[in-house]
Amino acid sequence: MKTRRARMILPFEKFANHVFERAYEAAKTEARKKSIADIRMLLKVVALSPSITRTKIGNNKTPIVLHHWVTLRCNASCEQCLWKDNSRPQMKTDEIKKFYTEAAEAGIVSTLIGGGEPQLRSDIGEIYRHAKEECGWKVGTATNGFFVEKRIDEFGDYLDTIVVSFDSADPKKHDRIRGIDGLFERAYNGLKKIKKEYPFIHAVINTCLDNNSVDEVEDIIALADELGVPVSFDVITTVQHTADKGTIDKKSHLIDSYERVGEALHKIIEAKKRGAVVFNSEHYLNHFECGKQPYECRYPHVFLRVMPDGDVEDCMQIDNPIGNVLETPIAAILSSERMEQFRRNAAKCCSCSSPTMIDSSYFYDNPVGLISELTVKRRKNPA
Ligand SMILES: C[S@@+](CC[C@H](N)C(=O)[O-])C[C@H]1O[C@@H](n2cnc3c(N)ncnc32)[C@H](O)[C@@H]1O
Ligand code: SF4
Ligand code: SF4
Repeated sequence: MKTRRARMILPFEKFANHVFERAYEAAKTEARKKSIADIRMLLKVVALSPSITRTKIGNNKTPIVLHHWVTLRCNASCEQCLWKDNSRPQMKTDEIKKFYTEAAEAGIVSTLIGGGEPQLRSDIGEIYRHAKEECGWKVGTATNGFFVEKRIDEFGDYLDTIVVSFDSADPKKHDRIRGIDGLFERAYNGLKKIKKEYPFIHAVINTCLDNNSVDEVEDIIALADELGVPVSFDVITTVQHTADKGTIDKKSHLIDSYERVGEALHKIIEAKKRGAVVFNSEHYLNHFECGKQPYECRYPHVFLRVMPDGDVEDCMQIDNPIGNVLETPIAAILSSERMEQFRRNAAKCCSCSSPTMIDSSYFYDNPVGLISELTVKRRKNPA
């Protein structure tokens, strides 16, 4: 079994400082709206964290997380997928490393590397390593698990979090949805190996919640329990926005009713109360209680989305990128009027149903809520 090498602490402190500074501001300005308990607890945390409060994250135009679609190529063909594209060009290793370093200098403190299937890239180990060791980032990645068992020794040392997708607890159904025979078994074995040999990696399974999985949440929770990892649920996003053709509905055939989603999330809340290790926030699990609810998207305040070819994507018009990291310095992209326009437009959008967007938006505006969410007491024993 491996143990984690010494970590750089500064990026975490920067991230935590950002959260605490915003929480403190909110506590000052919105004190009347917040519960006394939240504020007391917040002050306690701040008082206990002198090293955190001393560090500074810079200006609030810098997102915290680089959301890097490192490739859109994929060996699977999942029914729900909005992103797979085997023809989109992708940056070379050195180009990625250079732009990561620049992003770190601009104030980014962590990365989530997804796609496509990131581990299809032969250089993915070097990309994770650069993010971890040269940029000092927290490194998370999402994968279908096909290559994990075979390749984890190349990159296990550089990962903080790995999210492995399971669309069903039934191996045959999972393989059918994803279009690869034997994928369930490979993902399962990969996770087992991580648990045994890389226990310092925070491993999670993720399930896209749609017609295929909505009646299966309890079985999926049991699968996570069997694997000894938390599970997160991610309600399917069905549309994409373009400048040319407006909003394109691609996947709404995969969701019959948000009422069923609400019911499934309710079951998840109940399981969580009984002690199931569910990674979703209480806020997210309650979000769909009365159907799909509006929210003001703050995704671009928290994440910088870079596509495989270096385009900084404006998800309100995916055919009209904000800039390209190979052509324009990241700091200039972040402070551009075009980026401002994107942030303003995003605030009017609530198309995405993923926790990534819903939670980051809510907690960006309500940081005290984040702190109370993080300190919710978990009951231990499943009934
Ligand atoms: C896009 S994939 C990228 C990483 C990797 N290829 C994988 O499947 O895990 C990341 C996660 O997004 C989920 N996903 C795919 N299409 C989605 C959609 N339309 N809405 C919400 N989540 C989706 C996948 O099931 C997967 O768990
Ligand atoms: S494995 Fe991931 S990227 Fe590939 S098709 Fe499935 S969801 Fe999309
Ligand atoms: S909800 Fe946010 S992340 Fe999703 S498409 Fe709209 S602006 Fe983009």
